[in-house]
Amino acid sequence: MIIAPSLLAADFTRLGSEAARAQRAGADWLHLDIMDGQFVPNISFGPDVVAAVRPHAKKLFFDVHLMCGKPEILLEPFVHAGADEIIVHVELHQQVTPLIWKIKSLGCKVGLAINPLTSIAEVQPFLDKIDLLLVMTVNPGFGGQSFIHECLSKIQQADAWRRERKLHYRLEVDGGINNQTVAECARAGADTFVAGTALFHKRNMGAAIRKMRKIAHDNDPTLADLKV
Ligand code: DX5
Ligand code: ZN
Repeated sequence: MIIAPSLLAADFTRLGSEAARAQRAGADWLHLDIMDGQFVPNISFGPDVVAAVRPHAKKLFFDVHLMCGKPEILLEPFVHAGADEIIVHVELHQQVTPLIWKIKSLGCKVGLAINPLTSIAEVQPFLDKIDLLLVMTVNPGFGGQSFIHECLSKIQQADAWRRERKLHYRLEVDGGINNQTVAECARAGADTFVAGTALFHKRNMGAAIRKMRKIAHDNDPTLADLKV
């Protein structure tokens, strides 16, 4: 189970030390939400900020989530900034296949994200080409939103396809993830959990990460089989 704090919820006046805090707290990944003000109605931070944060969290896997309308011009800057994975949105339609190949050609892991209102069928053509599927559980653009429970069936469907087709993509969820919703998502088949508010807004981030990881582990159906 992977716990990935989202830097969007961190103190923007101290992003380097916040990334270091996440690393000390035992995070597995750092989730970096890149917003361009076009694809989503918000602007966050760019490759220079990611490059500045990178040395403060050398051990963390940088999971870069591009909520951008023209990600093709941002791929190399984010790889050079230290991205380990780049996630693009399936709502970019015809751009998706060339984006996946370009990200792979840069030696980076590739993720595909899907918004709450988009049919899960849209990701089917790409499942054998990606390292990670990100099922958004809020409409992208802002942290601190409420979890959309209707997305659980999409997680279940993505997990079923993974098993049926013997594929190995990670199943990530993002938005409104806390100690209640992480259990529901783990039971649905998710294995990678992005959380901003629920982690960065806690004074004891280490305890919050350990608790979230335990709840995810305790609700992992694949482990339940082993417990009997
Ligand atoms: C929303 C972002 C999420 C968000 C999660 O567009 O993709 O990663 O930062 O924040 P919380 O966990 O506060 O909902
Ligand atoms: Zn995100």
